[in-house]
Amino acid sequence: MSQPVPTEHDVLRILEGVVDPELGGNLVELGMIRGVEIAADGAVVVTVALTISGCPLRVQIRDDVVSKVTGLPGVTGCRVEFGEMSSGEKSELMAKVRWRARDDAPTTEVPLTTRIIAVASGKGGVGKSSVTVNLAAALAAQGRTVGVLDADIGGFSVPRMLGVSGRLGGADKKIDPNLVAIPGLADDDLGLPRPGGTIKVVSMGLLVEDEGSALMWRGLMLAKAVEQFLTDVRWGDLDYLLIDMPPGTGDIQMGLGRLLPRAEVIIVTTPALAAQKVATRAADIARKSYLKVVGVIENMSAFTCEHGTSYSLFGTGGGAALAAEIGAPLIGEIPLEPGVSSGGDTGRPVVLDAPDSAAAREFRRIADRIATELCPPMDMTGCSARLLDLITARFAAE
Ligand SMILES: Nc1ncnc2c1ncn2[C@@H]1O[C@H](COP(=O)(O)OP(=O)(O)OP(=O)(O)O)[C@@H](O)[C@H]1O
Ligand SMILES: [Mg+2]
Repeated sequence: MSQPVPTEHDVLRILEGVVDPELGGNLVELGMIRGVEIAADGAVVVTVALTISGCPLRVQIRDDVVSKVTGLPGVTGCRVEFGEMSSGEKSELMAKVRWRARDDAPTTEVPLTTRIIAVASGKGGVGKSSVTVNLAAALAAQGRTVGVLDADIGGFSVPRMLGVSGRLGGADKKIDPNLVAIPGLADDDLGLPRPGGTIKVVSMGLLVEDEGSALMWRGLMLAKAVEQFLTDVRWGDLDYLLIDMPPGTGDIQMGLGRLLPRAEVIIVTTPALAAQKVATRAADIARKSYLKVVGVIENMSAFTCEHGTSYSLFGTGGGAALAAEIGAPLIGEIPLEPGVSSGGDTGRPVVLDAPDSAAAREFRRIADRIATELCPPMDMTGCSARLLDLITARFAAE
């Protein structure tokens, strides 16, 4: 059954998740979307007006627009056409940018160049936190800086899983994340060790004395705590921000789209076919909030023993079935392995502790897919001259 095609409103809402990091806003609010055409067969053409036609972010913007729009149910393809702003449009844009810079302090401390991925599920206990910390470790091992925001305020597990315990410090009313240095993975083709990266961790577990005091936070208070982690934490440089979502479909899930319209969502599910209904609900919430669903990760897939026999303890096919149902790719299948669980208890994610295990290899493969294909880091090369200065200078000259 083919999906109904989206409306122009749907396309514009999802485009609010595409930012121009140089100009400091999303394409819609900056007035850069000149037109949206939606054909009856679901093919979409978006016309983007650039400030200067040789904009170094042109390719980045095109890829982001295509990625977001093709993630909308019912879209069969997306093409981007570029135009250049008239001087009238440019002055309007500059007025907006100046106004934002002056009056409208950034709503989050997360840099606009950061790719944000929320790891969610319908049901609890399917492995969101395990997936979050292992993907963070695998991305950091590629030399990247990865933030981990533990949005499971009442049931935090990230500090234990990453072996972090020090209380969060801070000054000037800002909180500093705890840092975990991650060594580079193995050697490169020349046999040289690869440089590692850093994970920046923020969790309620690093602020309160015990889980009991965190559990006193309820409902809206929880959503408020997550908001504060975004606005009051000095994240600094960050290639990725992974958000470990709490289980279920409550206020935090509902509020994510408002707090972080550019976030994208990975849905974790188990192989049991019966679990799909609740998992579909998590995807629905993301889409109702106009957040792109990047794909599905099946966790606790078949366990293969040392003799090579495979045991599907939790059933089979759940990840593929969910992916097909919500029209998003199945990004990977993590086997059920004791190392995933013991790594979570010792604070050494399996990706680092047993890098040759099947689970670690699959986590690395998923991280590679994220970094190269699904959510590649923003490429700011070519933006050495700040575009904003350039436009301001040009504008002043006109
Ligand atoms: N692939 C796996 N192999 C073996 N054990 C696993 C695997 N994935 C997760 N686990 C274990 O299953 C339990 C639940 O995992 P985890 O805490 O990551 O799930 P969660 O979805 O974050 O749970 P919650 O909804 O409570 O936040 C943990 O004990 C974890 O170590
Ligand atoms: Mg969890």
